[in-house]
Amino acid sequence: SKKLRIGIFGFGVVGQGLYDIIKTKQLNFEIVKFAIKDPNKKRTLPAELFTTDRDEILDDPEINTVVELINDSKAAFEIVKKALTSGKNVVSASKKMIADNLEELIYLQKQYGTSLLYEGAVCGSIPIIRNLEEYYDNELLHSISGIFNGSSNYILSKVYNEGLDYDTALKQAQDLGFAETDPTSDVGGFDPKYKLVIAAAHAYGVIVKPEEVLNIGIQNLSTYDLQYAKEKRLKIKLVPAAKELDSQHVALFVMPKFVNSTEFLYNVDNEYNGVVVQAAFADQQFFFGKGAGGHPTGSAVLSDIAALRYDYQYEYKKTHEKKDLKFTNDIELNV
Ligand code: HSE
Repeated sequence: SKKLRIGIFGFGVVGQGLYDIIKTKQLNFEIVKFAIKDPNKKRTLPAELFTTDRDEILDDPEINTVVELINDSKAAFEIVKKALTSGKNVVSASKKMIADNLEELIYLQKQYGTSLLYEGAVCGSIPIIRNLEEYYDNELLHSISGIFNGSSNYILSKVYNEGLDYDTALKQAQDLGFAETDPTSDVGGFDPKYKLVIAAAHAYGVIVKPEEVLNIGIQNLSTYDLQYAKEKRLKIKLVPAAKELDSQHVALFVMPKFVNSTEFLYNVDNEYNGVVVQAAFADQQFFFGKGAGGHPTGSAVLSDIAALRYDYQYEYKKTHEKKDLKFTNDIELNV
């Protein structure tokens, strides 16, 4: 397998989580440099490992692999674009950046023969992208749905199970490193929408612009809604879903939903995520795991890095095979 020389952008929750995992292992790759924004922050690693000049990584011909783990999705896109066009393979966990630019990112990979992997961008530690790409490659998927956002699920769980108030639960989700810098993305249902858009590209071959997809978050739920759910022995979960409506249309949406105790998602609490796949032949399958946090997400990023040792690429096969399938936002809300 190929020796990877890696430049990493970002040393936040995920970057540090990744580093913690890597240092426990004997791996056939080398981290050459971390590019960071703030040189004055106290770091746990030797100063010579850090740079604030992103070109030190992007222009270094010895670095063949870029790992992009920064917050700013515009800057992330510029970094990933430059890396892919200069022959470097990339691992990224920036779901907004990927969802917003999917078409161009697919084009760049084909054009330059480079690879972009992003398992860590969708549902943290749950290996859903690789499964959609490979395992379900020839399956007909009726739907993919689940809980794709750890922070909002953490808040809903803490309010419902422990009677915490919304703001305290949100603050905890932030302190634990689950929430985005701007938690509106989590509680407003944007973050799970980006993940849904990415998953749908692999499941259905449809490239959908996030702004076309309806997202209703949890921020306007009232204590009355939660009380009502409790009285009926239901839970409220924020559920993104992609559903094949007929042979030509797939619908995507994100909204809070009542879930009863016979459903898989009922027991997915706190920062855990769950993905329910309804397939024509495999029937219903359920993936469960931690969807946020440095170590779970870091483990998915590491898995992608390891896959680059043998130049693994997403093939987006369904993008070619199912050209007839179209996105629609014309949905019935009682789904
Ligand atoms: N803010 C995200 C979440 C992090 O809460 O799920 C993982 O993508």
